[in-house]
Amino acid sequence: MATQDDRFLRACRRAAVRPTPVWFMRQAGRYMPEYRAVRARFSLLDIVRRPDLCVEVTLQPVRRLGVDAAILFSDISVLFEGLGVPFELQEGVGPVVPQPVRTGEAVERLDPGGVVERLPFVMESIRLLRRELRVPLIGFAGAPFTLASYLVEGGPSRTFAETKRLMHGDAGLWHALMERLTSAVESFARAQVEAGAQAIQLFDSWVGALAPADFDERVAPHLRRLVAALRQTGVPVIYFGVDTGGLLERIAALEPTVVGLDWRVDLGEAWRRVGYDRAVQGNLDPSVLRAPWPLVERRARQVLDAAAGRPGHVFNLGHGVLPDTDPAVLARLVEWVHEQTAGAQAPGAAPPAGGAS
Ligand code: CP3
Repeated sequence: MATQDDRFLRACRRAAVRPTPVWFMRQAGRYMPEYRAVRARFSLLDIVRRPDLCVEVTLQPVRRLGVDAAILFSDISVLFEGLGVPFELQEGVGPVVPQPVRTGEAVERLDPGGVVERLPFVMESIRLLRRELRVPLIGFAGAPFTLASYLVEGGPSRTFAETKRLMHGDAGLWHALMERLTSAVESFARAQVEAGAQAIQLFDSWVGALAPADFDERVAPHLRRLVAALRQTGVPVIYFGVDTGGLLERIAALEPTVVGLDWRVDLGEAWRRVGYDRAVQGNLDPSVLRAPWPLVERRARQVLDAAAGRPGHVFNLGHGVLPDTDPAVLARLVEWVHEQTAGAQAPGAAPPAGGAS
């Protein structure tokens, strides 16, 4: 195996590392010409199902951007195939489930026991990638609430009306659904770690739609069990959701290794609320990448200043790269963060005063 630059993994563990590691959610995708060239010939699911293509697309941003971690190319909806649920990925829309899961019979048809057998190509891609990569490989899965939202709504939603109707109206059925999804995510993520994934990110993209009381009663018990089980594998567990400003203390209480922050919170304040015993990841607004460079630099500087040189910051965006982002700006940002943080932190040193550069 190639020697690894593991500053990303060490930062997840809150070791003092220089420079600050950087990777981007959705770092592989349509904003890259080489990705579009592959997508012109193959569907997204073809790419996911063919390890040779999956490896190529996962490596594209590592080569072009110089990021400190790779994320397996896949999609959260791939787990629906693992559960035996028919779905489509519609361009410009996202995952669509033609027969939504809203009844006891539909929940019982979900088959968490078959997930690993139905998705052997994912583990094969991970094994192949580990031979090629010199940076750590992040595996991932959708988290139970976000997966449930697609299954119950039948597709993307703004209000999550059907999901909440079920969650509020039939607690027994809701918990049965969450239990099956939790088991499925657990076995899928474990299999990814066994195949060689060195960290797991749980994407709970839509959890910010929940009232805190619903998070506490209807979602957190399942997440707590899931995070604890995944931490037993020994790899860092990153929990990320969008619009989680009202839930940060609750998310920290799940005890993920790393809390992913979206851009709506100030990273310094958010880290204080999460607690310095957790690493944090984030949180530049992805839309800023389309601004003139001086503003990109100013906003990135503000993220670094908010992190104040504390051990345990992984630089990232507050959500995925937008399709109209210039890859050259992302590459420049990686280089800039590395330069700015090359000498910023010494083990045991007091964090520099905010605003220092
Ligand atoms: O580089 C990476 O980050 C790995 C690849 C990745 C994809 N999806 C590929 C993809 C990852 C980590 C995901 C996760 C994912 N998928 C999430 C969680 C992260 C987030 O953005 O909140 C969610 C909610 C999905 C569901 C999904 N899949 C959506 C909403 C879309 C967008 C629909 C569209 O066409 O705009 C997809 C499709 C998708 N998944 C694309 C990519 C690169 C779009 C490009 C394409 O079709 O080739």
